[in-house]
Amino acid sequence: MGKVRTGLSVSLDGFIAGPNDGPEAPMGVGGERLLAWYAVGDTKFRLPGTDMVFMVSEQTAEYLAETRRTTGALVFGRRTFDLTNGWGGKHPLDVPVFVVTSSVPHDWVYEGSPFTFVTDGLGSALEQAKAVAGDHDVGVGAAGIVQQCIKAGFLDEIHIDLVPVLLGGGVSLFDHLGIGPIDLEITRVTEGAGVVHLTFRVVK
Ligand SMILES: NC(=O)c1ccc[n+]([C@@H]2O[C@H](COP(=O)([O-])OP(=O)(O)OC[C@H]3O[C@@H](n4cnc5c(N)ncnc54)[C@H](OP(=O)(O)O)[C@@H]3O)[C@@H](O)[C@H]2O)c1
Repeated sequence: MGKVRTGLSVSLDGFIAGPNDGPEAPMGVGGERLLAWYAVGDTKFRLPGTDMVFMVSEQTAEYLAETRRTTGALVFGRRTFDLTNGWGGKHPLDVPVFVVTSSVPHDWVYEGSPFTFVTDGLGSALEQAKAVAGDHDVGVGAAGIVQQCIKAGFLDEIHIDLVPVLLGGGVSLFDHLGIGPIDLEITRVTEGAGVVHLTFRVVK
């Protein structure tokens, strides 16, 4: 059985998007800085199955390849789905995405769609995602979903791509946790160009 884990770019002050995210600025004001590390390295990495080419450090390229290899399904909240317009039709990792929502956008329901809209809760979405992922991991996001996963004890691993910027406001990854302390174990630290990849095991 794979892990349930996050995989989000986060500012040093804990934001995954800047203030006022919306259709004009899906990552909020200043939030595009959180993704700058995809373009500041000296190693070319083409995401398999896409025409997306990143310029990252060699260590980050290895990490991205590993993420692509080990991810079997994703569970995301409806805001991320809407703000990215369904990642343009397919998530870059090319795995099934289970979108937790209170209403189904029927335009997106069609034969062979990579998206499944789950209206009976996060637990149901995770069960469906795990069934599809098998031995592979289930990635979860964004902030609201991660916080619910932690509260319910669903999360095995927190992986963050820590970006050297202070956004000062926006969508906070852990703002509404409401419980704690939650102990974590540092399992990996990888320095890239313009980013530090950090992995923590959630101690249960
Ligand atoms: N930095 C990064 O790597 C990264 C990656 C992805 C996203 N983001 C950013 O994260 C932000 C979005 O994250 P977010 O935390 O605000 O929202 P989110 O988790 O993407 O979506 C929240 C929405 O999901 C639905 N939902 C969540 N839990 C539910 C439940 N238990 N039952 C039914 N529906 C449920 C609700 O929508 P409805 O009730 O309306 O259906 C809720 O408003 C955006 O700014 C995006 O750009 C950043």
